Amino acid sequence: MAEDIYISPEASKGDRYQEVHRYIHALTEDEKSPLANIGNTLALLHHAFKFLWTGCYIVKGTELVLGPFQGPVACTRISYGRGVCGLAWEKARPILVPDVEAFPGHIACSSASRSEIVIPLWNAKSKIIGVLDIDSEFLGTFDETDLRSLEPIALLLGNWVSQLSC
Ligand code: SME
Repeated sequence: MAEDIYISPEASKGDRYQEVHRYIHALTEDEKSPLANIGNTLALLHHAFKFLWTGCYIVKGTELVLGPFQGPVACTRISYGRGVCGLAWEKARPILVPDVEAFPGHIACSSASRSEIVIPLWNAKSKIIGVLDIDSEFLGTFDETDLRSLEPIALLLGNWVSQLSC
């Protein structure tokens, strides 16, 4: 299966996201396991764009706890309102960070991270249950195209995360 997946690095960002959406659909439509679907979705995104880190944090009480991810070892717990992730949770909106060093309170899990996007994950009762966090080793990686393309993926992830019993 993995050998059948090819997303051209030459294609535009929008085209690559379209391919990613197509592969996510193909890989998850008949699969019931939320964890399998989260894992494959994060792997697709991570490898299609060669991000530094692509993962989920999941709400547990007043903290975000590290969930499934691709990339280097990361911070395990982030408090409500702290860092980019905790702030996206508190403000209940996506946050794009073109330069992490210029973002007050940014939590550096990896010194290689230069820019970041965080999108809240919602359950069916409109409650935030986690965040999608993506880090890039380049400045200014994320823009409106990423946001528009990642929001429907965050909806899927929110649905799957809400089915996890962790
Ligand atoms: N930079 C994030 C912490 C998580 S890591 O990037 C994986 C933040 O400021 O919340």
